[in-house]
Amino acid sequence: MYVLGIETSCDETGVAIFHSQQGLLSHHLYSQVKTHADYGGVVPELASRDHVKKLIPLISRALSAAGIDKYRVDGIAYTAGPGLIGALLAGAAVARSLAWALGIPSVAVHHMEGHLLAPLLEPDPPEFPFIALLVSGGHTQLVEVEAIGRYKILGESLDDAAGEAFDKTAKMLGLGYPGGPEIGRLADEGLAGRFVFPRPMTDRPGLNFSFSGLKTHTLTTLAATSSTRQDKADIAAAFQEAVVDTLLIKSQRALEETGLVRLVVAGGVSANRRMRKKLHEMGREKGYRIYFPRLEFCGDNGAMIAYAGCQRLLAGHAEPLEIRARPRWPLSDLLPP
Ligand code: KG4
Ligand code: ZN
Repeated sequence: MYVLGIETSCDETGVAIFHSQQGLLSHHLYSQVKTHADYGGVVPELASRDHVKKLIPLISRALSAAGIDKYRVDGIAYTAGPGLIGALLAGAAVARSLAWALGIPSVAVHHMEGHLLAPLLEPDPPEFPFIALLVSGGHTQLVEVEAIGRYKILGESLDDAAGEAFDKTAKMLGLGYPGGPEIGRLADEGLAGRFVFPRPMTDRPGLNFSFSGLKTHTLTTLAATSSTRQDKADIAAAFQEAVVDTLLIKSQRALEETGLVRLVVAGGVSANRRMRKKLHEMGREKGYRIYFPRLEFCGDNGAMIAYAGCQRLLAGHAEPLEIRARPRWPLSDLLPP
């Protein structure tokens, strides 16, 4: 089965062709980062308009790179939420209309399920069950994954998501958007240990997170320095270390509490080099296997949507003709395919 996957939940237009037996055949991504850079964050209306412009040319490219034409496509998967309503509708409208014109089914994919399943695109994929640590710009969640569609949320952020904390801290340090990669780069120049930030909510039981306090900590620490590049690099290093340690402590706790031995880490923040290193070290030390998507599939992309959609299409799922998007959509609402 050939599946066309379409991702438009935020500021990346992602398109991919996945084949149920042959695997991923092609994928293309257009990032709107430059469009939003001047504003220091995503401008929803600009995002929707850009998706409208880029989708059809990207789909044509993905089809030709996969060596097929549109009549060979058996089903279309698109991100229906959570995300920006206008951006979601741009993808949903193209996906549903194309599916209708071609007389094939289309299926709505949950964006976070896409992230969660992205490591299954790798050559040595994790077996079920596992713990998933989902860390993106809008979500921070620990999920017990029994099978596709069987998700139990064990903990989540009570305020800012991990990626959001990176973005806001980057802004305070005068860095560009998105903040995660910028902080990662600056932290490399930082002096480890000059500042030590708190590891929020790790001193009490439970698997929830809270990252908003780190903003205040960054501000007060910065105000007490002369704000040189070295000061900022030292703060970036302290901030990154605090977020990474907090995520590590809670992930380890989730593994211990459930008795599971596999941890899947996905979402934009899973590209963080320091986090990948520290989690792999923790895994080696404690006897857990840690799975990350390849770097290009940590952030938003069409491949993860095509993959997740393919599993649901194979099980006979299809949407009614109506074009719908769900800007808010709890992962725990999903059912197995
Ligand atoms: O999954 P994603 O691409 O989009 C959402 O679904 O939100 O995640 C984007 C988030 C942004 O907050 C960005 O700053 C963060 O992922 N991010 C990183 C890194 N690369 C992207 N955070 C830390 N380190 C990185 N290397
Ligand atoms: Zn995402």
